[in-house]
Amino acid sequence: MSSPTPAPSPNLLTAGSSDNLFPQPCTLVIFGGSGDLSNRKLLPAIYNLALDGVLPTNFAVVGFAIDDLDDVRFRAFARNGIDKFSRRPVVPEHWSDYERSLFYVRGSFNEAEAYQRLKARLEEIEPAAGIPGNRVFYLAIPPSLIDVSVRQLAAAELVRPPTELPFSRIIVEKPIGRDLASARTLNDTVAQAFDESQVYRIDHYLGKETVQNVMVMRFGNAIFEPLWNQKYVDHVQITVAEEEGVGTRARYYEEAGATRDMVQNHMLQLLCTIAMEPPWSNAAEVVRDYKLAVLRCLRPMAEDEIDKSVIRAQYGPGFEHGVDVPGYRREEGVKPDSTTETYVCMKLFVDNWRWSGVPFYLRHGKRLPKRATEIAVQFKDVPEVLFNRRPQTPVEPNVLALRIQPDEGMSLRICAKLPGPKVKIYPVKMDFRYGSTFGEQSPEAYERLLLDVMAGDPTLFMRRDAVEASWRWVTPILDRWKHSGTRWLPEYPAGTWGPLEADKLIASDSRKWRTL
Ligand code: BG6
Repeated sequence: MSSPTPAPSPNLLTAGSSDNLFPQPCTLVIFGGSGDLSNRKLLPAIYNLALDGVLPTNFAVVGFAIDDLDDVRFRAFARNGIDKFSRRPVVPEHWSDYERSLFYVRGSFNEAEAYQRLKARLEEIEPAAGIPGNRVFYLAIPPSLIDVSVRQLAAAELVRPPTELPFSRIIVEKPIGRDLASARTLNDTVAQAFDESQVYRIDHYLGKETVQNVMVMRFGNAIFEPLWNQKYVDHVQITVAEEEGVGTRARYYEEAGATRDMVQNHMLQLLCTIAMEPPWSNAAEVVRDYKLAVLRCLRPMAEDEIDKSVIRAQYGPGFEHGVDVPGYRREEGVKPDSTTETYVCMKLFVDNWRWSGVPFYLRHGKRLPKRATEIAVQFKDVPEVLFNRRPQTPVEPNVLALRIQPDEGMSLRICAKLPGPKVKIYPVKMDFRYGSTFGEQSPEAYERLLLDVMAGDPTLFMRRDAVEASWRWVTPILDRWKHSGTRWLPEYPAGTWGPLEADKLIASDSRKWRTL
């Protein structure tokens, strides 16, 4: 696809409404500031925002955690994470200035005094940095610590009412519960101290450039939307394939599994973005209402339907880049008889006028052959006349594939005539690549999302009702598995595209998984 040189335009439609909102001077307090998420994602994201010059001028980060650090060691910790994980390297001339905005308060999350120390420190940092007292509390901590942290924040009078300035906002990381009941409990806990308008539940997939682009692609172009329905779409496939295994996260993953880890949140959000009705405005609540409507239309599955339409599996020993890798049950921290799924695929339906009868196939797994996230919309076959007359040589259907990562872009498969005296049809691709069109590297999801919180734009965050609607649909699947008494799961060799059962699921509808 030939692409024009992009020109900045005030009319650019964005997935959120943050164009009219600006990041406000504030302090970002990272609960779990010395932890893994902070090191790999948050501190590098903030540094990149600083490099771009988009952070508010008056801004500070306070790491808050039990580890024995002080400001100096926290700065070294941040530097180390940025050196390893930032999309751009540290600029030494800039760093010495920048690091002065990083602070650390040591304390246990259930110790009231720690919050008093935090408060005192904030009251010292803020006037010096010209911050008017706006605070964003980022809970980068295990779910078991959320309750106590929220209570202590409130008890220390660190949470201001929603309508008052300076503002208090809270960012909650996934997992938001492990089923509908626990998600409700967690949401109730947060709601004891924070109004919903102050709560930002992160689903980092929503911060990815290419996910935001799905809306632009759908509603910023005239040619797709007329075809975006059951009359023209045969089916939709959403794939999130990962090459990596469970790595060092077995403790969390054993309790979660692929469905809780990826389907309940990221994949259902991708589904909402691709299936939602055109919102009448890009205001946060409108966009979020329209996405919620998709979740509410998901067809519930009875137990026999779950057995037929949802496949789970676990990776066995195999290869990654030609090197032997162990099966899931042999990974460190995994029970030798674990039945945690590392792969899941399913067929589901969105029961509304637009999508009636159109299957959506979702698949996700760890230790698949490559990292690739894609949403593919396959259109119906052309009539069996003219070029599609002969059943032995069917014309390939059109497919619009939105590549979310890593090779961001989109392609449209169309049929063309092979050059030559006879009419021979050949499928070709019209391809758009972010990299070659826009040149620069896309910002990380966390960059966009942190900026949105500072600006007070919740569009790309999960509202309570959406999180619960999603769990309402997923929980019966998890319950079915819990009560099935299964002692083993189908296995797929690491480095392959999942179990045979997954191929059978889609083949029974005379379709096949896309080759990525
Ligand atoms: C996280 C999951 O939310 O998303 C991980 O907990 C997963 O298991 C990760 O690997 C994938 O994110 P990304 O951005 O690398 O696709």
